[in-house]
Amino acid sequence: MELDHVLRARRSVRKFKMRSPDWRDILEAIDSARFTPMAGNNYTPRFILVSEADKIKKIAAATQQAFVGTAKYIIVVCSIRERPILAYGPQAENWIKHQAGAAIQNFMLKLTEKGLSTCWISHFVEKIVKETLSISDDISVEAVFPIGYEFEKPKTRKAKIELNSILYFEKFGEKRMKALKRFDV
Ligand SMILES: Cc1cc2nc3c(=O)[nH]c(=O)nc-3n(C[C@H](O)[C@H](O)[C@H](O)COP(=O)(O)O)c2cc1C
Repeated sequence: MELDHVLRARRSVRKFKMRSPDWRDILEAIDSARFTPMAGNNYTPRFILVSEADKIKKIAAATQQAFVGTAKYIIVVCSIRERPILAYGPQAENWIKHQAGAAIQNFMLKLTEKGLSTCWISHFVEKIVKETLSISDDISVEAVFPIGYEFEKPKTRKAKIELNSILYFEKFGEKRMKALKRFDV
């Protein structure tokens, strides 16, 4: 699939078919997450593949979103925080989140390319997720991703914000583009 097609095809799916995804496809999607920029090339995200039914049930309860429990696989994305904070100080707290987001986007787009679907879940009780997956206190849980095959194509496409609503020129809020200077070569 072409990148542009994948970007447009990805969407949040909250109803999955019974058919179980091939875990190899999920590993491939996680593999794509390695190719993201990282401050000081220090790779902070980690991905936990969860397939055990009792753990999926507990994680779904932690999200308070029942559809999460219908997935055959869940990926929980965490961040290792210690090294960048030691190296760069408190500003690295933001960077760790940026890095998780960048890695997650690669992961989600590769899932889409593989014909799989997911939904980014950030609403959860972190303590329960940590207890369920033996995650220590110094690690942060970034998000939860139930994975499956889309049950049916949603009938309507969610409206996406227009380019002219997110783009400014030269200063915040300026929507008009000045004629660009011409440079002689
Ligand atoms: C940081 C973040 C947190 C989200 N948390 C949830 C969530 O807890 N539950 C949920 O159903 N969707 C969640 N979503 C998915 C959004 O609702 C969804 O991306 C948005 O409505 C746009 O739809 P689309 O992904 O189909 O383009 C989250 C998305 C992001 C980026």
